[in-house]
Amino acid sequence: MISAAIVGGTGYTGIELIRLLSAHPEVSIDLLTSRSEAGTRADEIFPSLRGISDIVFSDLGDDTLATLQKCDVVFFATPHGVAMQQAEALTQAGVKVIDLAADFRLQSLTDFEKWYKQSHACPELLKTAVYGLPEVNRDKLANALLVGNPGCYPTTAILGLKPIIEGQNKQAERLIESRIVIDAKSGVSGAGRQASLALNYAESTDNFKAYSVEGHRHLPEIEQGVAQLLDSQFTHRIRFLPHLVPMIRGMLSSIHMELTDAGAAIDWQQAFENAYASETFVDVMPKGVYPDTRSVRASNRLRIAVHQDNDRDELTVIVVQDNLVKGAAGQAVQNMNVMFGFDESMGLNFAPIVP
Ligand SMILES: NC(=O)c1ccc[n+]([C@@H]2O[C@H](COP(=O)([O-])OP(=O)(O)OC[C@H]3O[C@@H](n4cnc5c(N)ncnc54)[C@H](OP(=O)(O)O)[C@@H]3O)[C@@H](O)[C@H]2O)c1
Repeated sequence: MISAAIVGGTGYTGIELIRLLSAHPEVSIDLLTSRSEAGTRADEIFPSLRGISDIVFSDLGDDTLATLQKCDVVFFATPHGVAMQQAEALTQAGVKVIDLAADFRLQSLTDFEKWYKQSHACPELLKTAVYGLPEVNRDKLANALLVGNPGCYPTTAILGLKPIIEGQNKQAERLIESRIVIDAKSGVSGAGRQASLALNYAESTDNFKAYSVEGHRHLPEIEQGVAQLLDSQFTHRIRFLPHLVPMIRGMLSSIHMELTDAGAAIDWQQAFENAYASETFVDVMPKGVYPDTRSVRASNRLRIAVHQDNDRDELTVIVVQDNLVKGAAGQAVQNMNVMFGFDESMGLNFAPIVP
């Protein structure tokens, strides 16, 4: 049994971590922090936890770090900039750290400062961080002390592109023309639990809009992920455009590419099926069947459909996931399983909720 702490337990990814870790046979949640709800039982704020967990939120102030250092693993389900203040002391004490925010995702300090508008608190430690996408970095995760859990959009984009970028002997630039368009939609829980005008019921329901059209902070993360798959810089341009859709959970990314003659000669359905044949959490749909977001709701599964049209030289990859599970807390638990040598699907292998 390992001892876990969740920093930021009142947020949407925090409550998902409580839900998943409470059912995990090898984990005890020993500390759950909140500054605003210290002293309150978690099941008072989230009645869904009644009968599941009797843990109380703590704000330990100056003692927080000393208490976190007694745990085996600390999850930071906090805004960007929080984990990097404590990760150095924790990892030095041998505690494994999984940050759901962006502090340890981007290896380029220039990109981090540009997109997150702050300087990095521990650039040397950042170099040791592993990007927490098990389907890409499983071997590195097994020995990792510090993990940057991926963003939700990048998880769909990188796994949607992996069989194309990496799988074909890293010949992607020969197989597709020079631009990839990622058209992505997220439910409103992607923005977290804090109140904001744009997330008001009257503003977000029965409404549909693009945002960050001029540039989104997940683009450099997608580009970094693609470059890692290729082991070098990828010269093709990626256009990424996110949208907010009126649903609570769920994410759908449509990835569009133009095929070259060499690319059109490949059977991409088969290539995707081969690439993910042994992955528990990545499901390639049968040809002509397209996944919807409710087919993954509240689960750690990500489903992919591949549509190839050689008359138009087009390849479209459609990816769905639950942004709070495979896009955040579930992926964090999957990473923890790999880091501690547990079965990778432990505590995660349950069916999505329908309807
Ligand atoms: N929502 C998603 O779909 C999603 C997907 C992937 C990644 N992420 C990332 O995961 C992280 C958490 O997201 P979320 O949606 O769960 O956010 P959220 O709902 O806004 O919750 C944030 C949590 O952090 C705590 N917190 C805020 N400032 C803090 C500070 N300075 N020190 C310590 N705790 C602090 C808050 O509690 P108190 O104020 O009570 O302390 C709250 O529990 C974010 O970095 C987000 O970008 C989210």
